[in-house]
Amino acid sequence: MSKFITLEGVDGAGKSTHIPTIANLLRGQGHEVLVTREPGGTALGESLRELLLHQSMHPETETLLMFAARREHLEQVILPALARGVTVLSDRFTDATFAYQHGGREVAADKIRQLETWVQDDFQPDLTLLFDVPVEVSMQRLARAREPDRFERENREFFERIRAAYLSRAWDFPQRFQLIDARKTVADIAKELEDIISSI
Ligand code: TYD
Repeated sequence: MSKFITLEGVDGAGKSTHIPTIANLLRGQGHEVLVTREPGGTALGESLRELLLHQSMHPETETLLMFAARREHLEQVILPALARGVTVLSDRFTDATFAYQHGGREVAADKIRQLETWVQDDFQPDLTLLFDVPVEVSMQRLARAREPDRFERENREFFERIRAAYLSRAWDFPQRFQLIDARKTVADIAKELEDIISSI
């Protein structure tokens, strides 16, 4: 049966490193897998991503564009794939909007919930892997990475609020969230992922 699986975490938590591992574990279990990302995943979504990552804008404009990209992504990619029996692995989804635009940018959660209902009704991931790491660690990792985008240039408090918002989502939706301690080594996380994926 196809599943909708999302990956979340603050910038620098290291989730991107594990995407190929997760996709391979799923394929090993007989799933056909489509890997995608937000913002992005469609031609229009990727254009919006360019704007979102590099152009300054009002926090509510940012929120609206995230959902505009998501509407397109659901329609063109996610829902058709699930309908064909394909498992979809998305690097970020709506939890990121609650974490970054509500937690980080302090847009009212109610406004985001309204957009969520508008764009996706009650559609939710089957499983959300939250890569959690202390902000001190993620910021050290980011400092070693390539040229930072508009989000990655934010200060420590911004990322602390994002981490707290993610943990509060995990607390609110325990049935779909799996928390991964992303301070661990890549090999240890890969083992943990193997256990999680084998149990779905
Ligand atoms: P990210 O997924 O971390 O990609 P990369 O590894 O290439 O940096 O970058 C996407 C950025 O977009 C990230 O900083 C989080 C942000 N974002 C939001 O603020 N809200 C959202 O709803 C989504 C999906 C992403």
